[in-house]
Amino acid sequence: MTVSFFKIFFFVSFVFSPLLANNSSVLVFGGKTGWIGKKIVKLLEESEHDVVCAESRLENRESILREIEEVNPIVIINCAGVTGVPNVDWCETHQIETVRTNIIGTLNLIDIAHSKNIHLTNFNTGCIYEYDEEHEMGSGIGFTEEDRPNFDGSFYSKTKILLEQLVLLYPNVLNLRVRMPISSQMEPKNFVAKITKYEKVINIPNSMTILDDLLPIAVDMTLKEVKGNFNFVNPGTLSHNEILDFYIEYVDPSFIYSNFTVEEQNRILVGKRSNNELSCKKLLELYPEIPEASRSIHRVFERMASEESVSD
Ligand SMILES: NC(=O)c1ccc[n+]([C@@H]2O[C@H](COP(=O)([O-])OP(=O)(O)OC[C@H]3O[C@@H](n4cnc5c(N)ncnc54)[C@H](OP(=O)(O)O)[C@@H]3O)[C@@H](O)[C@H]2O)c1
Repeated sequence: MTVSFFKIFFFVSFVFSPLLANNSSVLVFGGKTGWIGKKIVKLLEESEHDVVCAESRLENRESILREIEEVNPIVIINCAGVTGVPNVDWCETHQIETVRTNIIGTLNLIDIAHSKNIHLTNFNTGCIYEYDEEHEMGSGIGFTEEDRPNFDGSFYSKTKILLEQLVLLYPNVLNLRVRMPISSQMEPKNFVAKITKYEKVINIPNSMTILDDLLPIAVDMTLKEVKGNFNFVNPGTLSHNEILDFYIEYVDPSFIYSNFTVEEQNRILVGKRSNNELSCKKLLELYPEIPEASRSIHRVFERMASEESVSD
């Protein structure tokens, strides 16, 4: 009796094994080398999810298709994209390469995920707005997901506006609009690290994404297969000077900085930079516990200060 049960079990497992193939993995594009991607992979691993870092290049549709069929992921997270080295000005002089990855490549991936009926979370940007008369600086009136982008002063932002319009046609996609991401490690792409390296900084309040707060939420939204477009920032704004003053207070009392105007900044840049406040009402309806940027930044600097003192 027992033997026949096992025989049946192995027969069923063998015959149906392709159908029963493990489809609990999360496939992460940009997970191997990307700043945000590596953090997403770490969070998934810490919560004991199977994670596979994608090998395919976004422009290679056949390779993406093969990889998705092989991995058979339950969901996909796309943290791949070009942001330019040393900064987004690179995109001004590498427009075709930027289009190839940020538009054609990203759409390849999303289109394949859609054809396979797989949920996909796409990391995108909120740098597609600038303060205007209806959304004045300091007014607390942020741009909503419904507002038409009004900032295309850089080629990077232009590609992201085009991409977003197309991405939102796909019903399987969660599009997260990240801005000026901050983490509690002084990694080169951390907004805090970036502005401490500049000779002069502008001083404008902006919506920012504190990754320590928001990346676990990105993982949760993905696993719950939330769809649609979300401003992915902490409530409220932080200005450049506020951040640098905290840096001095918590990390390096000897640090000094000086300001210049946006007009002066534009003279040293190839493309312009966006400054805005985004409304995160829609996100807060799902995750009301997300802390105000002005509160969370203290914890970021406390962690940063303790890490800096450990590495001293
Ligand atoms: N960092 C920011 O300030 C910021 C702000 C807002 C939004 N975002 C968005 O968030 C996403 C991730 O940003 P990040 O800061 O983590 O960027 P990142 O550190 O530069 O990582 C980008 C990742 O994309 C991969 N990648 C680039 N081109 C690719 C291609 N053609 N095919 C496959 N993979 C490719 C890179 O892999 P290789 O190393 O192999 O090329 C890398 O793993 C981007 O879409 C970015 O626009 C970033």
